[in-house]
Amino acid sequence: EERAAFIAGVPKAELHLHIEGSLEPELMFELAQRNNVAIPFASVEEVRAAYAFSNLQDFLDIYYQGMGVLHTEQDFHDLTAAYCARADADNVRHIEIFFDPQGHTSRGVAFATVIAGITRALDDARTTYGMTSKLILCFLRHLSEADAEATLDEALPYLDRIAGVGLDSSEVGHPPSKFERVFARARGLGLKIVAHAGEEGPPAYVHEALDLLKVDRIDHGNRSLEDPALVRRLAGEGMTLTVCPLSNLKLCVVGDIADHPLKTMLDAGLHATVNSDDPSYFGGYVNANYLAVADALDLSRADLVALARNSFTGSFLSDAEKARHL
Ligand code: HPA
Ligand code: ZN
Repeated sequence: EERAAFIAGVPKAELHLHIEGSLEPELMFELAQRNNVAIPFASVEEVRAAYAFSNLQDFLDIYYQGMGVLHTEQDFHDLTAAYCARADADNVRHIEIFFDPQGHTSRGVAFATVIAGITRALDDARTTYGMTSKLILCFLRHLSEADAEATLDEALPYLDRIAGVGLDSSEVGHPPSKFERVFARARGLGLKIVAHAGEEGPPAYVHEALDLLKVDRIDHGNRSLEDPALVRRLAGEGMTLTVCPLSNLKLCVVGDIADHPLKTMLDAGLHATVNSDDPSYFGGYVNANYLAVADALDLSRADLVALARNSFTGSFLSDAEKARHL
């Protein structure tokens, strides 16, 4: 289709991607076999059928279970290499990807193993596809701030490979204020700051992410639209929102893709971007996310170009690197 071809032709950056959420069922089976890990599914079809969620927590339960097949450096390499190949096919030229070290260290997988596998694949992607990348360490917000502090301690030897820190997992009941001190330390280390906020949580959590964590980007941010003063602030500050349309649909953040607020965000002057979040679980990589909202909201070519442009301007590339994409 014409619209799909246009989207495919536009160079894009992806700024909201959990690498563990790109684990396709086929690779899950392969790694389960390789590592002798039992999984409660008999077939790839059974896995896909289990991916029906009514909220964020429903998904997270399956997501943490799925990542249990990842054990060796090679596993993390293969996971990341598969995502990079898929992103390249969508004409994604730059990626800023999250990883959840606490989802691995809690299972006895060393931080060093995780980072070595991921970064080896990212280095390969630069050589093979000319794809540039940044890595963002996410703290799991359902765990304690002390646990996040210990994770930041573990990251210290690898700060040359880590561009920033983020905050993900169960949002409601775990506001940004719970992590104010660890994020202050991360800022002091020169790390970029992002946080999931306003996916299921209220606008107050977006305010906290801005005021207490001093974020450089907001991940999701949908519920900001409930607070007109917050919308004006985000627009005025040129704050990038990393929006994930198919994720929002699958996690029932929106009831119907036709009700997705992306166009409203753009019209309000918000710097929205389009991203895939956990593409294996939510049914589509970057281009599928662009196409879903383009069709449902009748986005113009100018809208699509603006979204792709926002993905580079909102990235953590240097101004000189951004200029090469704009
Ligand atoms: N929200 C919160 N935590 C997550 C997500 C998400 O969309 N994906 C992976 N961890
Ligand atoms: Zn996310």
